[in-house]
Amino acid sequence: MDKKALFKFSYGVYVVSATDGERTGACVVNTGLQLTSDPYQVMVAINKENNTCSVVQNAGHFALAVLSEKATMELVGRFGFKSSADIDKYEGLKTETSSLFDPYTPEGACAVLSCVVVNTLDVGTHILFVGEVTDAKVLTADKPMTYEYYHTVLRGKTPPKASAYVEGADASEQPAAGSGDGKLHHFRCMVCGYVYETELTELPDDFTCPMCGVGKDKFEQVD
Ligand SMILES: Cc1cc2nc3c(=O)[nH]c(=O)nc-3n(C[C@H](O)[C@H](O)[C@H](O)COP(=O)(O)O)c2cc1C
Repeated sequence: MDKKALFKFSYGVYVVSATDGERTGACVVNTGLQLTSDPYQVMVAINKENNTCSVVQNAGHFALAVLSEKATMELVGRFGFKSSADIDKYEGLKTETSSLFDPYTPEGACAVLSCVVVNTLDVGTHILFVGEVTDAKVLTADKPMTYEYYHTVLRGKTPPKASAYVEGADASEQPAAGSGDGKLHHFRCMVCGYVYETELTELPDDFTCPMCGVGKDKFEQVD
């Protein structure tokens, strides 16, 4: 089986979030998808080990923010590589509340939906949540971020809990468009795979990964 065939699928990049009154969960998903238009229904697939999964289950509703190409790696790193069980992912970000009272940040988002969970399906590692859209807003005219843009332009990696993770064959290992003019140096984070491009030959001592937050000692020089 050529696992790279799965990279031929197209996706967007989203943040699904919910609060159940006590806990708040929020994480990046690439599995946002419109299912029907009468009624408007969307779906997301969330790993059972992600904090957000149990919060959405308890809450029975979620907000789905569509990330735009303006979203930074720091934002994707915070929502996609850290757990809302450990940190407040909205700390320091402009935060708003959906019409179903779920938090979302308009930073780096071009649209947001409010969804009531109307169906779930246990698909093994993930729960598939079907949400009926009760409210929707366009936030900016910025282009929505595609999964391909995330991999090839932002050079982001897919963590194991993502639905589209393929062991040993990450799409981000494909050559990035327009990269490598021979004068720049690249350092790869050994934790999340983020590649930092710089003219420096060594990373500063206080350097931390914008994706997952680890220090300089977790980076290896690629070239
Ligand atoms: C580009 C990208 C796509 C992702 N897609 C999914 C996904 O579809 N489903 C999922 O459960 N996790 C996905 N993840 C992983 C979660 O965002 C990640 O495990 C997060 O740290 C979970 O946070 P939480 O514990 O606060 O819920 C993705 C991460 C990235 C960076």
